[in-house]
Order: sequence, then C-alpha cells, then structure tokens
Amino acid sequence: MVSRQVHLDLDALSAAGFVSPNAPRSQIADQYRVIKRPLIANAMGKGAVAVTNGNLIMVTSAVAGEGKSFNALNLAMSIATELNNTVMLVDADVARPSILRMLGLPASRGLLDLLVDDQADLSQVMLKTNIDKLTLLPSGTPHPRATELLASDAMTRLIGDIARRYSDRVIIFDSPPLLLTTESRVLATHMGQIVIVVHAEKTLRNDVQQALATIESCPVKMMVLNQAKAGAGEGYGYGGYGQGYGYGYGS
Ligand SMILES: Nc1ncnc2c1ncn2[C@@H]1O[C@H](COP(=O)(O)OP(=O)(O)OP(=O)(O)O)[C@@H](O)[C@H]1O
Ligand SMILES: [Mg+2]
Repeated sequence: MVSRQVHLDLDALSAAGFVSPNAPRSQIADQYRVIKRPLIANAMGKGAVAVTNGNLIMVTSAVAGEGKSFNALNLAMSIATELNNTVMLVDADVARPSILRMLGLPASRGLLDLLVDDQADLSQVMLKTNIDKLTLLPSGTPHPRATELLASDAMTRLIGDIARRYSDRVIIFDSPPLLLTTESRVLATHMGQIVIVVHAEKTLRNDVQQALATIESCPVKMMVLNQAKAGAGEGYGYGGYGQGYGYGYGS
C-alpha cells in the first residue's frame, strides 16, 4: 500500500510565519534551531542520558490556545527540512484538530480511523508531503467518542506499533491541553519527551505547575515560552514575537 501524497504550499507557509525550507534564514527558523537541538539529541540517543522512546515527542500545554499546534508544526518542519531525520507529525488533538487546516489541506483519514478499525493500516492513512522527510498522520474522520479513543488501549497499541516501525523517525504529537482534558495525560505516559508550550505573560503560574504535575512520569520535559516579546523597543507585531526555552530532566 503506497501512502497518499499531498502538496504543501511552502511560499504560503513561510508568508504565514511558519518555518519553511523556502526561507531557511528567517527569524522563526533560527528560533526552532535552538529548540529542536536537545530534542533531536535525545531522540537519537545522543543526549546526556539515554531516553526510552526519546523519538516520541508530545507538544502540549496547560490550557487552550497557547500555541501547541503552531509549535508542533514548526518543530516538525524545522527537523524535516534541515536534518537527516524523518519526521511524522501526528494530529492527536482529535476533538479539535487543526494541523491540516494550518497547512491548507482538506480533511483526510487518519488516527481515529486507525483506532476504530483494526484492519486499517498506518501506511494507508499516512500522508507523504513534498518535503521528503515530512509525513503527516491527520486526526482522521471525526468520531463522537474521539477523546475516549485517544485514551484507549487501541491507542496504546498504535503508539507501540509506531515506535517499533518507525524507531528511526522523530514522531511529533500535537495534543489537547493538559488541564482541560484527561486524555492528554494518558498520551503523555507513552512519550519519551514532552514540550510544554506556555503562553508568555498569559498563562497562570499555578496552571503551569499543575500541568507539569500531570506529566511527572515523562523523563524529559522542555518548556517553550511562546509569544514572548523579543526585547525592549520591539513592537507587538508578529516579528516581535519569539520563543524562549527552558529544559530539564525529571526526577
Ligand atoms: N509564536 C507565535 N507567533 C505567531 N503566532 C502564533 C504563535 N503561537 C501561536 N500563534 C497563533 O496563535 C493561535 C493559537 O495557536 P495554536 O492554534 O497553535 O494554539 P493551540 O495551543 O494549538 O490551541 P488549541 O488549544 O485550541 O489547540 C494560532 O492562530 C497561531 O497561529
Ligand atoms: Mg491546537
């Protein structure tokens, strides 16, 4: 079974402020170079300590609208366009998917279809893109029990299957927020690394602390401060937004 191919409009993506191979020297590309470096090292077993399933990376946040999908897509783009790693971007925010929309692509089968039909195979729903090293796993056909499916045993089996079949790939999971739902916490237990996106100057400290407490079991957590002002004198325009990051190993 050959995977379907989709075409990403790379000029439109870079014009919309995303990392794109068409604009390698952009400010946004530079920011993700910094963020991805430790993630890649852990994914490839070259970090300070060995990380089990280090290639499974979830992007999450405490509450909604902090920039999870934006960061998941940019990380995937950044890794796929510059390094020798193949990346699969999974839209695991199954109740409120947004990756295909952000990429200007129509709805497509994906994760939920795999979870409801154990005859369906990953290779049938995965989308290849015109970026050689980037494949997509969309959230799939909407389902009334989408959130339960995401926390199901079928999902655990699917993640195991992905980890085995694609152990040489970096798999990035966009996901629901941690404090508003519980399925994200279940997903977190399968991950080697978690990127927690924090909306600068907006997310409450207590919410961040509570969110961190829900993902205690994950060995590597990295915090990305999203939409931080770049510095004094910079305006609030998109050019003035940036990402900062902090990094730590759990106990
Ligand atoms: N660093 C950034 N620079 C510019 N725009 C950003 C940035 N981060 C997020 N955005 C924009 O803010 C909006 C919300 O971001 P996004 O959809 O990524 O958040 P989310 O955490 O995935 O939200 P949800 O919880 O609804 O899934 C989007 O329009 C996105 O393009
Ligand atoms: Mg999102």
